[in-house]
Amino acid sequence: MEAFVVRGGRRLRGSVRINGAKNSSLILMAAALLTDEPVTLRGVPRLRDTNNMTALLETLGRGFAVQDNAEQAMTARTDDPSRCTAHYDIVRTMRASICVLGPLLAKRGEARVSMPGGCNIGDRPVDLHLHGLRALGARIDLEEGYIVARTDRLRGTRVFLGGPFGSTVLGTANVMSAATLAAGTTVIESAACEPEIEDLAALLTSMGARITGAGSPRITVEGVDELTGADHQVMPDRIEAGTFMLAAAITNGEVTIENCPVDALTATLDRLSAVGVEVESDPAASPQDRMRQTVRVASHRRLEPVQVVTQPHPGFPTDLQAQLMALLCLADGNSIITEKIFPDRFLHVAELSRMGADLTRNGPSVLVSGVKKLIGAPVMASDLRASAGLVLAGLAAQGTTLINRVYHLDRGYESMEVTLRGLGADIERVSVPT
Ligand code: EPZ
Repeated sequence: MEAFVVRGGRRLRGSVRINGAKNSSLILMAAALLTDEPVTLRGVPRLRDTNNMTALLETLGRGFAVQDNAEQAMTARTDDPSRCTAHYDIVRTMRASICVLGPLLAKRGEARVSMPGGCNIGDRPVDLHLHGLRALGARIDLEEGYIVARTDRLRGTRVFLGGPFGSTVLGTANVMSAATLAAGTTVIESAACEPEIEDLAALLTSMGARITGAGSPRITVEGVDELTGADHQVMPDRIEAGTFMLAAAITNGEVTIENCPVDALTATLDRLSAVGVEVESDPAASPQDRMRQTVRVASHRRLEPVQVVTQPHPGFPTDLQAQLMALLCLADGNSIITEKIFPDRFLHVAELSRMGADLTRNGPSVLVSGVKKLIGAPVMASDLRASAGLVLAGLAAQGTTLINRVYHLDRGYESMEVTLRGLGADIERVSVPT
């Protein structure tokens, strides 16, 4: 098994270019099932999750082939439109497999998708996905662990997609994608407002879909009879950008971040500013597009404690909670982090404590009492963002941190250790016995 060895204490300096967004790529790739014409996606990051999605789509007769390595461009083509089953073996490796459900159903009239189980960050039910697709007229049964959905043609409708923890990102992607081929108009209320949903709507629109309101809680989709091929540039990854901002901050470094989607990071920038981290856009380098700015992140002074609540977009993202917690461990006072999306997403708490952090969990909240220093230790996390939080802690810690099971990191960060080394970090990937 692979691990990272991090020798902490180096200030990060230099520049980093942000890749295309993982969570956008996954729903865009699934949406390519809505047509049999070629769909090209540019800027798809090389990650375990995108590889898994490619493998899944191949089993569905809609394989993606590399078009241009430098641009990370891939094109989907159909070789067997009769395949409708997303098998357990692949779905269990990646919950995002659920987002093939809506496109398969709408295009092929049938979808059999293995029911995703819970995962390390919580229960993660899919009831809202099913509620939305049933509202569009799908007949859905659970058969031997598979969600089996059928339709002759979906019908537009008005559907409320809010749940106990707010909107659902992949649920909105599923229902919005399916509605593009429904007869009539669909209105999704309490839709997820995440920028990845806007990115999906942009791809679908260039495929001929008629969508308004993406990025707001009410999305309207006028169904069309068929969609065409398209060529689409994936948005930059806001979570990767936020992670490198926090890496700069925790090492008192100075890092320039290119291709940075600042427009999608307002809550993160607000909290960084409250902590005392400087983030400045370079208007000369990126005058127009607020999704592709060049920003300079610097932290030279003491870190202020803050209160943070994770919320659906545009609130502070749950996918940066672990990384922010690592930073606040070194703040000058008491911070409170409350997790409102996945209330059990705190796998990193015990591991950070092993590094000398002073953390007290109380239900969905953690009191983070700042300490003077973190101390390197062997640690292990069982989810992607928790692992990223531990890498950040290791960069700032005194001594050596061994982060086990980095395959979690490889799901969402492309060669993270190489990027961090480019910024001056002392980090290497090693093999360790299981
Ligand atoms: C997406 O997961 C992301 N995954 C997650 O990123 C991210 O943490 C999450 O959105 C929240 O922003 C991808 O885009 C591939 P949700 P998703 O449905 O869509 C509850 C990462 O690290 N809920 O928006 O599966 C759910 O339990 C990953 O990159 C229901 O109750 O999350 C949660 O409390 C991890 N019923 C809340 O809604 C449902 O049917 C939000 O979940 C669906 C969800």
